[in-house]
Amino acid sequence: MPDVDPFGFDPGRVFDAVAGDYQSWRPGYPPALYDALEGAVGPLAGRLVLDIGAGTGISTAAMASRGANVVALDPSLAMLGILRAAHRGLPGARGRAEALPVFDGAFDLVTCAQAWHWVRLPDAAIEVRRALAPGGVAALWWNVSEDDGGFFDALEREWGIGRYGGRARQDDDRSLLEIGGFADVERFALRWAWRVPVEHWVRTASTRSALARLGADAARLVREVEALAHRWFPGGEVTEWFTTRLALARP
Ligand SMILES: C[S@@+](CC[C@H](N)C(=O)[O-])C[C@H]1O[C@@H](n2cnc3c(N)ncnc32)[C@H](O)[C@@H]1O
Repeated sequence: MPDVDPFGFDPGRVFDAVAGDYQSWRPGYPPALYDALEGAVGPLAGRLVLDIGAGTGISTAAMASRGANVVALDPSLAMLGILRAAHRGLPGARGRAEALPVFDGAFDLVTCAQAWHWVRLPDAAIEVRRALAPGGVAALWWNVSEDDGGFFDALEREWGIGRYGGRARQDDDRSLLEIGGFADVERFALRWAWRVPVEHWVRTASTRSALARLGADAARLVREVEALAHRWFPGGEVTEWFTTRLALARP
C-alpha cells in the first residue's frame, strides 16, 4: 500500500536509487544511544526487537552486535537488498509501520531510527503498541545536525539544503500521547561530534532525501557542495555536531 500523501511521493521508495551509498556513507548512532535503550529494557542480549524503517540495517546491526534478536522491516526492497548483502544473517522483511506483519505482543522493543517522520499516524502508533509485549518500549530516534558552523548556514542559504535530520515529530509529545495513544514519553538528547573526510561528508549529503529525489540533476549540485566544503574545511576533514534525539514511549 504505497502511502503517497501527505508527501507527494512514496517515502518507502525515496532512497531506492541511493541504497548502496546510504549504507556506505550515512552516520551511525553513538554508543550512548544503545546504552539508553538498555537502560529502558535491560541488556539487549536476548531481547526480541523489531526495527521499523530499518533501511540498510545501520541500527539493526548495531543492536544485533549487542546480542539482540532483531527483525528488520522496511518497505524498500532496494534498502533490504543492501541490508542482506551488508549484514549476512540478519532477518529482514518487507513491510510498513502502518500494517506490521507481526503477531500481537511479540516484541520487547520496537525501534524506528531516522524514519518515524515518514510514517502515518495514528495507524503506525497503534501498530507499534499492538506489537509490544507487556512492559515493552517503543524507541524512536534521529540524528539531528545542530552544528552552528558557517558552512552549514551557507548550504542552507545558497542551496536550500537544511541541516540533517527530519525534524518533524522529534520533540512533539502530542504526536505520541494524544495522536499515538502512548501513556508516557521520556526524551533524551545525546550530543556527539561526527568527523569524516570531506569526500565522505559529500557522499552522505547525496543520500539526503531532498537530493536523492533530484535524480540526474543532483550530480551538478553535489559537485558545487563539494567545492564549498573544501573551501570551509581546507584540512580535508568535516566536523559536524549532532544531537541524537531519542523518545522512549510506553503504552
Ligand atoms: C532515513 S531511512 C532510515 C534507515 C535506518 N533506520 C537508519 O537508521 O539508517 C528511512 C527508512 O524508512 C523507510 N520508510 C519509509 N516509509 C516507511 C513506512 N511507512 N514504514 C516503515 N518504513 C518506512 C524507508 O524505506 C527508509 O528505508
